Amino acid sequence: MRLSRYFLPVLKETPAEAQIVSHRLMLRAGMIKQSAAGIYSWLPLGFKVLRKIENIVHEEQMRAGHMPMLMPTIQSADLWRESGRYDAYGDEMLRIKDRGGRDMLFTPTAEELVTDIFRSHVNSYKDMPLTLYQIQWKFRDEVRPRFGVMRGREFYMKDGYNFDLTKEDALHAYNRHLVSYLRTYERMGLQAIPMRADSGPIGGDDTHEFLVLADTGESEVFYDSAVTDLSFGDRDIDYSDVAQCAGVMEEFTTKYARTDETHDEALFHAIPEERRRTARGIEVGQIFYFGTKYSEAMGATVQGPDGKPTPVHMGSHGIGVSRLLGAIIEASHDDNGIIWPEGVTPFHAGIVNLKQGDAEADAACEAIESAMEALGLEPLYDDRNERAGGKFATMDLIGLPWRITVGPRGLKNGVVELTSRRTGESEELPPEAAVAKLAEIYKGHMVKGL
Ligand SMILES: Nc1ncnc2c1ncn2[C@@H]1O[C@H](COP(=O)(O)OP(=O)(O)OP(=O)(O)O)[C@@H](O)[C@H]1O
Ligand SMILES: [Mg+2]
Repeated sequence: MRLSRYFLPVLKETPAEAQIVSHRLMLRAGMIKQSAAGIYSWLPLGFKVLRKIENIVHEEQMRAGHMPMLMPTIQSADLWRESGRYDAYGDEMLRIKDRGGRDMLFTPTAEELVTDIFRSHVNSYKDMPLTLYQIQWKFRDEVRPRFGVMRGREFYMKDGYNFDLTKEDALHAYNRHLVSYLRTYERMGLQAIPMRADSGPIGGDDTHEFLVLADTGESEVFYDSAVTDLSFGDRDIDYSDVAQCAGVMEEFTTKYARTDETHDEALFHAIPEERRRTARGIEVGQIFYFGTKYSEAMGATVQGPDGKPTPVHMGSHGIGVSRLLGAIIEASHDDNGIIWPEGVTPFHAGIVNLKQGDAEADAACEAIESAMEALGLEPLYDDRNERAGGKFATMDLIGLPWRITVGPRGLKNGVVELTSRRTGESEELPPEAAVAKLAEIYKGHMVKGL
């Protein structure tokens, strides 16, 4: 991609309405534009990152054996009356009437619809376990939409639903989700800590939220500092292995980590004082086991091994896909702008031409561009007739983790400069070596983009 042809409406001024750094940077970097309170257009750069995040979520869900599908955003109120949530949901639900006067709504979540699909098509325990999921726009008419995409009214969410014959099977599904979520967030360069939480309007007993520690987070959290030493890493996992998944669950949830809703002072004070932490966190996901709450209300039963109709055990599991952009930026930025982790960066490296129009410099940039593309890497080539300072500032703002700087002086010695956005460190090397190094860096971080 050439910057001269890209749509990147960078803002010079810091937008006054944005209170937190991720919101400011997303507006300044031309990633989003507000269209109404809590509702945003995703401009090309923002959309690219959104798709990367979405694709990581898909890859990890499919790896866990969960099945992607898509349900409508506009749903009939009738199903929601069956579960009792049409009235219970309150003002957060956006209610709509169609031309025939029928009550419709914009989906805030999809337990009812997916349960209806299940009960229409699955009759036997032999067709389970089953986990269906989607990544789809949701709408919740939040009282106070704020912080940009972090608390929108329209937002993009992965929601998954497991259907199991027994509570034991459903708890395995719960553990599978926990493991897949740990992998998902780590691939995005994030540490998201599972914390015991409150179930809210979804209902149910067992639930964990995943929180990214950040001063701007809306949740107050209490934890044993030992939880921040845990990481899933690149260990192998067999998602059908019940004991292995339960082991990961235990490893990541035994140490004290709770949100304020379930915080217990006595348990907290049992932790050695030097390990007690009180902080703030951003909720980027939540998993629930709620048993037969919806299956009983909506008659989702299957024939069990004994031939008797049994209500299925369910859980639902969400990831805040659009909120994650904000959370990642909160966790990874500096005074000059965003610093994307390799797994989600919109472009793999920026190419900065210090002397646009110089035949040699132009040719070298184009050669690097083609060499990267040949390896499946996406460069963003700043080919504008701008001063070097302006080009560097744009690259720093939009946060590509690597930059290749090309100028006549270096080319005389056969080298270009490869700079890390995170450390600011630069290295001079021949263009082919710089491209080879990028290919090495991105091994294991290649995610399908756009
Ligand atoms: N208004 C929102 N804007 C952006 N993302 C959201 C919003 N509400 C929820 N999410 C994301 O969707 C995920 C799953 O939704 P869930 O039903 O658990 O939300 P929630 O617990 O009501 O969120 P919150 O407590 O932040 O309002 C959340 O973990 C969060 O990451
Ligand atoms: Mg939640």
